[in-house]
Amino acid sequence: MGKPIDVSQARAFGDDVVIFDTTLRDGEQSPGISLDAREKVEIAEQLARLNVDVIEAGFPAASAGDFDAVKAVAETVGNDTSRGRAPVIAALARAMPGDIERAAKSLAPAARHRIHTFLSTSDIHRRYMLDATEDEILAQAIEAVELARSYTDDVEFSPQDATRTDFEFLVDIVAAVVEAGATTVNIPDTVGYALPHDFGIWIAQLHERVPAIAERGVVISVHCHNDLGLAVANSVEAVRNGARQVEVAVNGIGERAGNCSLEEVVMALRTRADILGVDHRVNTPELTRTSRLVSSLTGYSIQRNKAVVGSNAFAHESGIHQHGVLQDRLTYEIMKSEDVGADGSQIVLGKHSGRHAFKQTVDDLGFELTDDEFQSAFQRFKTLADKKGEVKREDITAIILAETHVKADDAFELVTLRVAGGSDVAPTASVEVRLVEEDRVVSAEATGDGMVDAACDAIRRAVGRDEVTLVSFQVSAVTEGIDALGEVTVTVEVEEGARFTGRGVSTDIVEASARAYIDALNRSQRIVHRSDEFRP
Ligand code: KIV
Ligand code: ZN
Repeated sequence: MGKPIDVSQARAFGDDVVIFDTTLRDGEQSPGISLDAREKVEIAEQLARLNVDVIEAGFPAASAGDFDAVKAVAETVGNDTSRGRAPVIAALARAMPGDIERAAKSLAPAARHRIHTFLSTSDIHRRYMLDATEDEILAQAIEAVELARSYTDDVEFSPQDATRTDFEFLVDIVAAVVEAGATTVNIPDTVGYALPHDFGIWIAQLHERVPAIAERGVVISVHCHNDLGLAVANSVEAVRNGARQVEVAVNGIGERAGNCSLEEVVMALRTRADILGVDHRVNTPELTRTSRLVSSLTGYSIQRNKAVVGSNAFAHESGIHQHGVLQDRLTYEIMKSEDVGADGSQIVLGKHSGRHAFKQTVDDLGFELTDDEFQSAFQRFKTLADKKGEVKREDITAIILAETHVKADDAFELVTLRVAGGSDVAPTASVEVRLVEEDRVVSAEATGDGMVDAACDAIRRAVGRDEVTLVSFQVSAVTEGIDALGEVTVTVEVEEGARFTGRGVSTDIVEASARAYIDALNRSQRIVHRSDEFRP
């Protein structure tokens, strides 16, 4: 094995790292996340504002819903030239003709598109999943790349489980797919097994052993999973050794422990450009908002101490640190909060704030709402302002994200909720729910272990969804203080393996829970379940 490339050599690979976002594909494979086409478009629009280079929008062969979602992203964001060039829209395809054709068809409306095809190469995957020899894998990979090239000039190939693949075979397959016309070759650390130093050496070695990479201007990409918590470190080390694309997901979501976190890797590359000598085109002040949007629509909350976008990322508790930061922020901060869009500027509205001030705030926060969405957000804001007095921008963001998106297709709407109970009486709840399509209100009552349990059970009975079970429940406060808005995320299972996450906000936790439960039921009505067989 050779030596890693030193920094001056690494610069020879060019100064720009392509940011390939897979939040909508690998990120969406996280348990409990199911985004429908409109939610995918909403996230893709934000990714375009963030200025990522490539948006992997899904896996079209997996289901009709995935196909439609990729097509919707290709039609909209894939043609949005308002910031210059539209991002490249990518779709995943197994190395099979049917998958590649589906990918090509769903991507066709985008101005620039990429087919990303993959095939496992490690011994363990070959033996237990594919029952194929190395020669058969080579032939299948070449055919897949050639077919994909017949649809587009932009083709990416991934040898799945690359880091547990025999290195000599990896060299052979990379050389073969480059010869066949792949323009990007991605090296996935599918199971998060790599260590930074060794991974870096592999990336350097691939460049050395396959001269056609440089000759044809092929980009070597990396796709690191976080099973050992090393996804960002492995990606950075790969860049130091010549990789010029990193595959990332917002908030690091993805299979198992997730993917390389977008916000962490882009800030690492930018903050340590002194050592790495590279840059990217990400508009980093959009990072915090992107992170919140993804958290909201996926129901995956962001841990407080998460690097870059956690609520503590720029908070200082120790007196010594506070003293230093008051003199000069750089004493204990290596990034500026405004560079990641987390500057403390507080917009505060109250019950006397009118439509105009609210509209201004919504615009400042960067939301583009339809008239109906604006109307519904404004009404929720007024109710909240009456209860709470001061309404902060975090509250407004939470209301808009949890309450106003994709309401148009909702099957159920909470009309009233009444709960009663105490330390010595069984909690009871009664609800009225509107069945939107029939424009009919149904009601039910239930008792439960607690008020939240009773409220969810009453909703379930009212809408006649006896098969639904609640599998997880999380509550967090949007801001600080006793009157803070509570944000509830629930996951329900409607059949074996079909889980849906919903979210609700209110100053009352039981009401927030009921709203979250209804949201999850609405999603389960909208999304056609995708078989797990199609999760690569
Ligand atoms: O982790 C992985 O190997 C993947 C491939 C499909 C790129 O997600
Ligand atoms: Zn992956």
